[in-house]
Amino acid sequence: MESLHMALSILVPLFFLAFAIFKKSQPASSKLPRSYPIFGSFFTFWKNKERFAQWTADLVLASPNLTCPIDLGFGRKVVATANVDNVRHILKSNFQNYGKGPFIRSTFKDFLGDGILNVDGESWKFQRQLSIQAFNTRSLRKFVEDVVDSELSDRLLPILKKAASERTVLDFQDILQRFAFDNICMIAFGYDPQYLLPSLPETKFAVAFENSTRDSRERVNSIAPIFWKIKRALNIGSEKQLEIAVREVRDFAKELVSGKKRELQAEKSLHSVDLLSRFLSSGHSDENFGVDIVINFILAGRDTTSAALTWFFWLLSSHPEVENQILKETKQKAEETSYDEVKNMVYTHAALCETMRLYPPVATDTKSAMSDDVLPDGTVMKKGMRVTYHPYAMGRVEKLWGADWAEFRPVRWLERKEEAGKWSFVNRDSYSYPVFQAGPRICLGKDMAFLQMKAVVAGVMQQFKVVPVAGPEPVYVTVITAKMKGGFPVRIEERAQFGS
Ligand code: HEM
Ligand SMILES: *[C@@H]1O[C@H](CO)[C@@H](O)[C@H](O)[C@H]1NC(C)=O
Ligand SMILES: *[C@@H]1O[C@H](CO)[C@@H](O)[C@H](O)[C@H]1NC(C)=O
Repeated sequence: MESLHMALSILVPLFFLAFAIFKKSQPASSKLPRSYPIFGSFFTFWKNKERFAQWTADLVLASPNLTCPIDLGFGRKVVATANVDNVRHILKSNFQNYGKGPFIRSTFKDFLGDGILNVDGESWKFQRQLSIQAFNTRSLRKFVEDVVDSELSDRLLPILKKAASERTVLDFQDILQRFAFDNICMIAFGYDPQYLLPSLPETKFAVAFENSTRDSRERVNSIAPIFWKIKRALNIGSEKQLEIAVREVRDFAKELVSGKKRELQAEKSLHSVDLLSRFLSSGHSDENFGVDIVINFILAGRDTTSAALTWFFWLLSSHPEVENQILKETKQKAEETSYDEVKNMVYTHAALCETMRLYPPVATDTKSAMSDDVLPDGTVMKKGMRVTYHPYAMGRVEKLWGADWAEFRPVRWLERKEEAGKWSFVNRDSYSYPVFQAGPRICLGKDMAFLQMKAVVAGVMQQFKVVPVAGPEPVYVTVITAKMKGGFPVRIEERAQFGS
């Protein structure tokens, strides 16, 4: 405690002094971030903390190799890159050398524990293999399908119908987040939090989860980890909130895990098909392990699909030609809702990919070098340095997408087939489009995400038109996952039924 106190009393005045100097001397338009001894470019980082993706995208897009080193102060050196060769190198060719690292691990340890999103090496490999086994079963697909279908027809569509007839304004982002939260909870551990109800309730578990995410992310904004560690030791501010929220989440998950374990002991095998039941049934009954699994899967599946869909519906409202194409496709598919048929909605698939090119649900993702290395473009990585690959910037690279990169154009993902009028999807190299990450650690939920998103698109669009309430262009912000700042206010209109 003594040494913490001393660190505080030296660092805090220093901090304000440097900030005052910075305020005075910052030129109006500088491309490279201003850098100071010790503090590096921390102040520019702080000023841009809500638009980290845009700030760093400007930096990398302005540099010849699409790579820019940023000194965040106190020895936090990060290389941001949108260079395809670099991305392939860190995610695949030299995968072994790039992991979560101690910075990310300690930042998210309280919340994510030793779950798949927060570990490297053997522990990661083990969870990855276990998860792949569970994901590759027909019964899980069927379960996901059923969960999505019933959430759609019992909750989402009735809420939209009511909003259409009463002409109310909905925050569609909030609705989609609630939808995804219920879904992923059911899939991860067979529990229905009932977050998407007409009353839009303040469901305790969901709120605690949201707070845990927000307050964990807040640690990244500390000039050095020592600051949040001091706050944690003193149990003040966001650290106090985090402690409360995380305890709530973990206690709740623990109760569910031990409930399932008791069930398992009584019956020898579980009949439920959710992920947790699968893990427990295959003999992995450690309680903390179960809790970590559940929390990590919820985080991975919670705000990602909803972010993609939010931007999708916004883009659609200003691109009627795309909307018409999708309507045509959903009309053809109206009778076919099984996994394989939904999978075939190629135009919709392309439109979703195109949405995520411009507005990736995970804007940037950071790895830490385990030992000294040199990236393909010549950038030198020292052990412990971090490198951030940048899907948001990569979607804006002219060399990758052409001069019309700024346009929302789903057909750039499509090819006309010989047979009349059939599109086929053209896959991109995953290292130039790492929206789901790429390589050995590529997102495990990619197929599940597309299934869910297409089901929502088809279900909503067959019956309703989503009309944004006029206002300024929405702002893309990132809090682990991307969001539309302030929500997405819309009105819902009923479409004339097909065939009439
Ligand atoms: C549009 C939706 C989604 C996008 C864009 C997306 C993107 C990503 C990205 C960028 C990562 C790498 C994160 C990192 O290592 O820091 C990741 C990992 C992961 N995602 Fe997704 N995700 C989506 C939906 C889902 C869903 C619905 C699930 C459902 C269960 C899921 C499960 C996972 C898991 C388990 C990992 C960890 C994989 C590993 O570390 O081996 N994701 N995802
Ligand atoms: C979540 O955060 C809000 C505002 O910061 C706070 O009022 C609320 O009590 C928190 N709830 C939980 C369960 O952590
Ligand atoms: C950029 O790439 C070129 C050649 O590919 C290399 O000579 C140069 O040093 C690189 N610049 C930086 C800043 O790494």
